[in-house]
Amino acid sequence: MKDKIVIVTGGIRGIGKAISIAFCKAGAKVYAFGRNLPNSKTDFSNDETVINNIEFVKVDVSNLEFVSDAISQIAKKESRIDILINNAGITKDNLIIRMSESDWDDVIDINLKGTFNCIKATSRIMMGQRYGRIINIGSIVGTIGNAGQTNYAAAKAGMIGLTKSIAKELASRNITVNLIAPGYVDTDMTNKLSDEQKEFFMNNIPLKRVANADEIADVVLFFASDSAKYITGQVLHVDGGLAM
Ligand SMILES: NC(=O)c1ccc[n+]([C@@H]2O[C@H](COP(=O)([O-])OP(=O)(O)OC[C@H]3O[C@@H](n4cnc5c(N)ncnc54)[C@H](O)[C@@H]3O)[C@@H](O)[C@H]2O)c1
Repeated sequence: MKDKIVIVTGGIRGIGKAISIAFCKAGAKVYAFGRNLPNSKTDFSNDETVINNIEFVKVDVSNLEFVSDAISQIAKKESRIDILINNAGITKDNLIIRMSESDWDDVIDINLKGTFNCIKATSRIMMGQRYGRIINIGSIVGTIGNAGQTNYAAAKAGMIGLTKSIAKELASRNITVNLIAPGYVDTDMTNKLSDEQKEFFMNNIPLKRVANADEIADVVLFFASDSAKYITGQVLHVDGGLAM
């Protein structure tokens, strides 16, 4: 990953933070996008390599204009963008009869439209340089559904169609596009689950444990590496066997 220019959306905490740190440690220069940024680089990490290789960018991925501005500034400074990781995501769970229109819109706008926005702003740059790796973070819920998450499951399922379509559009320019679908990962997002929901997952994960964010970051690194250069348009569940 030495000197690769990488964008990680939602790269400030949770899975995104683990991805940002993994790429920094592998020698890449990482631009971590987020709505709320750390006060300083040392608040984010005390690792010297991470501090040297990370930049924070305040941007809301659901807004195409903000995303386009941020990405064109990075491209101007670095002359290239090698890897885009669409990780920013939110949940606003409720049963369909209680789900508000704004909760539907917010989840679709950040998870699905945010992914479209970042790919739209980056793909021309990657096409010009005849190289790119796009890795989208979906969820197993996009494949198997989940009661109480119609908005989130629809957004994550939409990301699968988007991944495969863009993989077909950009393959001739040496750009691969893949999606990683985590199961249950220990982050702030899942800390919100009820004890009953947590127990359900634990009982149904064949590996009998929750993932940590680093285990997702490892797979992102693989998809971005040369070892995965012949893989595109794929969905990989990283879920301890939950969604078999
Ligand atoms: N935690 C899990 O078990 C799990 C499982 C499957 C999929 N995922 C997916 O993994 C990704 C990361 O999840 P996480 O658990 O680390 O969540 P998290 O809530 O800890 O982190 C999400 C990050 O996205 C950022 N973000 C949210 N809205 C944004 C916006 N509009 N613009 C820019 N950044 C924004 C947040 O600031 C935060 O840094 C999400 O796409 C999520 O859907 C998580």
